[in-house]
Amino acid sequence: MLNKRFYSFEGIDYSGKSTQIALLRDFLENQGHKVYVLREPGGTEISEQIRTLLLDKKNSAMTDFCEIFLYSAARTQLVSEKIIPLLEQGYFVIADRYVDSTTAYQGFGRGIDAEMVQQINRAATRGLMPAWTFFLQLEPEESYKRREASGRTTDRLEEAGKAFYRRVHEGYLELARAYPERFIALQAEDSVENIHQRIIQIIQEKGA
Ligand SMILES: Nc1ncnc2c1ncn2[C@@H]1O[C@H](COP(=O)(O)OP(=O)(O)OP(=O)(O)O)[C@@H](O)[C@H]1O
Ligand SMILES: [Mg+2]
Repeated sequence: MLNKRFYSFEGIDYSGKSTQIALLRDFLENQGHKVYVLREPGGTEISEQIRTLLLDKKNSAMTDFCEIFLYSAARTQLVSEKIIPLLEQGYFVIADRYVDSTTAYQGFGRGIDAEMVQQINRAATRGLMPAWTFFLQLEPEESYKRREASGRTTDRLEEAGKAFYRRVHEGYLELARAYPERFIALQAEDSVENIHQRIIQIIQEKGA
């Protein structure tokens, strides 16, 4: 199956996605595999231009539907231009956010109708779903603490407010319940090393 080597990482900001992806990449490369990491939105020249639009604080007038179509436009370009060809060439592809982010942020967060979100997602991905989605589960309050500790400035999305992040968090929990065969929930407050070991264990059990 094409998606056997396709994994995504999900979770709210600062949940540790990039940290774990870097460790998983090293692990897989040390095993002799070819690995490609992609961040969303982005990952192709066109998708990175769309990313700039999406994160620009000047675009505060952006409507919720404009937002979901832009994310989905960036994603469908990524799927066609990068993800499918890389999988066909035998790469492991690790996506730093994928379609579940749209369900959580634009669906649950912004309140766009769930069925419509599903249809848009299906069109954007061309039906290509990851074998596993590693979901780093973090309370929004903990995310704010990590942000303060990092001293990073906020982007357009990060200014959306606490009620928004609470809904996104609930959305992820709902997704984990809805897709237990694909979603692997990990406690993001566990240590970096413990989480990494758990991810490796799952990949080895289920066959990398
Ligand atoms: N298990 C952990 N325990 C405590 N701190 C962690 C853990 N994992 C990552 N961190 C720290 O939390 C911060 C955010 O981590 P990281 O950048 O990996 O998250 P992210 O999910 O990729 O965030 P973003 O969505 O903003 O890209 C970093 O300062 C990182 O060192
Ligand atoms: Mg990150």
